[in-house]
Amino acid sequence: HRDLIGISSLERHEILYLLAEAEQYVAFNRQAAKHSEQLAGLTIINAFFENSTRTLLSFEIAGKRLGADVVNMYAAQSSVKKGETLIDTAVTLNAMRADAIVIRHGSSGAVGLIANSVDCPVLNAGDGQHEHPTQALLDALALRHKLRERGHDAEDFTGMTVTICGDILHSRVARSNILCLQALGATVRLCAPPALMPAGIERMGAVPFHDFDAALDGSDVVMMLRLQNERMDGQFIPSPREYRHLYGLTPERLALARDDAIVMHPGPMNRGVEIDSTVADLKDRSIITSQVEMGVAIRMACLDVLTRKARGVPGWGEGEWV
Ligand code: CP
Repeated sequence: HRDLIGISSLERHEILYLLAEAEQYVAFNRQAAKHSEQLAGLTIINAFFENSTRTLLSFEIAGKRLGADVVNMYAAQSSVKKGETLIDTAVTLNAMRADAIVIRHGSSGAVGLIANSVDCPVLNAGDGQHEHPTQALLDALALRHKLRERGHDAEDFTGMTVTICGDILHSRVARSNILCLQALGATVRLCAPPALMPAGIERMGAVPFHDFDAALDGSDVVMMLRLQNERMDGQFIPSPREYRHLYGLTPERLALARDDAIVMHPGPMNRGVEIDSTVADLKDRSIITSQVEMGVAIRMACLDVLTRKARGVPGWGEGEWV
């Protein structure tokens, strides 16, 4: 079987395949009755060692809409709190004969480690500062839908400039998006206060900025990230008021980007800090709620494709499209 640990392990055609597969689920999810028996009989475990609203709920909804038995393990209420090691927890989930395990963990690399200890596909729902692959895939799908709505029928984002602004240092969303957007042809600019910009990030091919106004000039898309205060380790960060002044996406700032530039945010948002409500709620420009909708479809596609081998359906790892 294959796992989904990061965008780094996906080829461009595999990204495009997952996006194409997700399209059918976007349409499926817009029906009144949205339940299939495609994954009936399979057990999916969502093991979340960190808080989540969007990712946990959308993986749970995705599995249930496909007919799987979905169970959630919240680390805060589990035997992790009694000192059980990560590997012992993984071996325990494996012994329950899960058919797919979705994991969010606070440590970079933890999900890959678990994947090596279990027999079923593992999907990374965010590991530390490393990757959040389904977030980048859903972002690409939401962006593509918006572009299509505007009459651009391109398969990828060639010729587009996407600026990601915020706490780049701690952001798995930024890392997965740099890889995914570049694989799909976009130029990626990064903007952060100096303390929150990883050293050597330009080696990933992205262009770093500290001046948000300069980064916005010529941007087609602006993706805002929150300050991850829970991961700060002595970095100097401005006060929320100062941060908004320097890096907040206000209506005046958005006017510096291209006309009709698209606004994105993976959530959770800190309104009035990295993004003003008037911008977050802009009807024709902000695709933040579409990102959430696409998240369910992307997670349905990933669960479908990754369990195909176990279900005897040709797909990922079977030489069909890999
Ligand atoms: N975007 C995202 O991962 O949100 P949650 O932390 O709510 O899952």
